[in-house]
Amino acid sequence: MMLKKVKLAIAGLGNCASSLIQGIEYYKNQDVENCIGLMHYDIGGYSPGDVEVVAAFDIDARKVGRDVSEAIFAPPNCTTVFQSEIHYMGVEVKKGPVLDGVAAHMSNYDDNKTFLVSKEEPCNVVKELKDCGAEVLINYMPVGSEDAAKFYAQAAIDAGVGYVNCMPVFIASDPEWAAKFEDAGLPIVGDDVKSQIGATIVHRTLAKLFNDRGVELDRTYQLNTGGNTDFLNMLSQNRLKTKRISKTEAVQSALERPLEADNIHIGPSDYVPWQKDNKICFLRMEGRIFGDVPINLELRLSVEDSPNSAGCTIDAIRVCKLGLERKIAGPLTEISAYTMKHPPIQYPDYVAKQMVENFIKGEIYDVTAEISLEPEIATAAENKE
Ligand SMILES: NC(=O)c1ccc[n+]([C@@H]2O[C@H](COP(=O)([O-])OP(=O)(O)OC[C@H]3O[C@@H](n4cnc5c(N)ncnc54)[C@H](O)[C@@H]3O)[C@@H](O)[C@H]2O)c1
Repeated sequence: MMLKKVKLAIAGLGNCASSLIQGIEYYKNQDVENCIGLMHYDIGGYSPGDVEVVAAFDIDARKVGRDVSEAIFAPPNCTTVFQSEIHYMGVEVKKGPVLDGVAAHMSNYDDNKTFLVSKEEPCNVVKELKDCGAEVLINYMPVGSEDAAKFYAQAAIDAGVGYVNCMPVFIASDPEWAAKFEDAGLPIVGDDVKSQIGATIVHRTLAKLFNDRGVELDRTYQLNTGGNTDFLNMLSQNRLKTKRISKTEAVQSALERPLEADNIHIGPSDYVPWQKDNKICFLRMEGRIFGDVPINLELRLSVEDSPNSAGCTIDAIRVCKLGLERKIAGPLTEISAYTMKHPPIQYPDYVAKQMVENFIKGEIYDVTAEISLEPEIATAAENKE
């Protein structure tokens, strides 16, 4: 009997890809009962270890030409190594087109902190995807790489593979791109990963808590620092526009009444090299409780950024494969709402979770019953009409 696999291609073999691949290997050696850190061990018959990397594209001279199992540990990757033994995959990292993947300011930093562009000629990405039989392409381009993200999205369409868009160039949530995937008969999940226990899900949960408990939220900020290439890249303000939209809308949509723009500040805030892949989020919420009396909440979250994202992408990839098997064309709204910050339709996280559980079982979750209770669903329903 053939073992079921999810054949995965990866664009951008940075820290997030490193954690994902380490996790695929790690969970091969864990039994269902004892494994920690997963939302689902089994998704439609696929365990994390059933995800098989069949192609990888990068532009860095220290990654291109190497086997994926080695390239994920090459600098400037700096995420924690929780699985150092990775089997030799026999999958060579191919050079993708650079396009706008590398920000100009990155050249001002030491080699071990920044990208070094390989001098090799770019490969034919569509041909590579077809030749290796890829089924899902996951996009890990740096923030602000509008052209590169769209290039890989188009390559997915041309090669006939599903797309999981982990970064904030709007593709799944852009009606024109969503229609392109629909026309091609391919599923897409996106946009911009919402980590397992990251700043966004914590902020959304607290915003909802304020609402549910009748507390007026007046002002909030979420400041984030980190020392990986993602944070280095995000020092460039002109690459950040969609990241700010993605992060801010994710919190605003959890509120009954969105805050005035001046009263909500959310974004990547600084690059602190020694933090490496550790991200720190400083969150503050100011509001008023019973009797108009003030309340302030301060929270500091410290978490390794890339395993935190992989905890969600490992599910997004497998659900995308289910979408392919079931011939679902266009955005997969359930898994996008659950694992992405800027999905085509926002749902409260507990509703999105139930929708995903039902999707995995092949059932539809009727959200209409929730409409009267949840402002997000009401808005979503209005938008759909
Ligand atoms: N928790 C998280 O880490 C998290 C959460 C949400 C979103 N994201 C987003 O996911 C994306 C990836 O994050 P990361 O931490 O892995 O970033 P990273 O900087 O570690 O990796 C990016 C990789 O892309 C490569 N690259 C650059 N241009 C390319 C091109 N044109 N073609 C192929 N490869 C190219 C780089 O060489 C590098 O290996 C970022 O946009 C980030 O904002 C991450």
